[in-house]
Amino acid sequence: APVRFEFLPEIDSTNEYLKREVKQSNSVSDTLVCAERQVKGKGTRGRVWYDSPQCCLKFSYRKQLPTNFSKFAVISPWVALNFCQYLHSVGFQTVGAKWPNDLLINGGKLSGMLFEIVSKGEVSYLIAGIGVNLFFDPNLTEISGRNIAFLYEKFTPSIDERTDILIELGRVLIDSLDNIPESFTDEDKMSWSACDVFYQKKVKIIQDGKVVDEGCEMGIDKEGRLMVQTSEGLKSINIGELSVTL
Ligand code: BTN
Repeated sequence: APVRFEFLPEIDSTNEYLKREVKQSNSVSDTLVCAERQVKGKGTRGRVWYDSPQCCLKFSYRKQLPTNFSKFAVISPWVALNFCQYLHSVGFQTVGAKWPNDLLINGGKLSGMLFEIVSKGEVSYLIAGIGVNLFFDPNLTEISGRNIAFLYEKFTPSIDERTDILIELGRVLIDSLDNIPESFTDEDKMSWSACDVFYQKKVKIIQDGKVVDEGCEMGIDKEGRLMVQTSEGLKSINIGELSVTL
């Protein structure tokens, strides 16, 4: 089916925009929306996603889910893996993934993703929002107080270039959501390990700001959970529960 595309000069959040459409309309089609400026960007766990209008590409895709859909846990690492592999294939070899769905370059955050489910009656929709820091903007590091990475070191955002990148990355998102696997195959798991920047590194598992465990990161299992070899044995960590830092 064709994908509807909308460009918005300014919006609170592209995820919220797509959610409102579901609430307000009787029927909505699968839509990709991109915003130039996002004034209330949302991150995971209630965090703020800081914007740099020309430097950060922000887009969300809303897709109607099949009624029996149950593969939620695999979505985050699956999409992150697809983006990482795509970026490697076009020459950005230094991009790595941090479970469940961050993309990093040299420890700095290149991209974050926010997946939400919204239902109306019997019908459920997946809203997948992505922010990618394309062009260097020193202000972004300052306002966010975080270590930020950019795909391009220089500030050269031409409209044409940004449009080309949006088309490519939008395609990666749509294709990966059209092909969500039932579970990760051994090959998928190996591909994930090759992208995973913390693979076989010592990690701390953080829950509600507190370190609850630590161990050696062992990649993902077939459900998409992170495996950590702790002193008490191998543990599987569910999406949404925990975050991991070195
Ligand atoms: C995170 O790393 O915490 C997730 C960040 C997700 C940001 C994107 S930008 C487009 C979409 N709209 C939002 O409000 N958030 C996501």
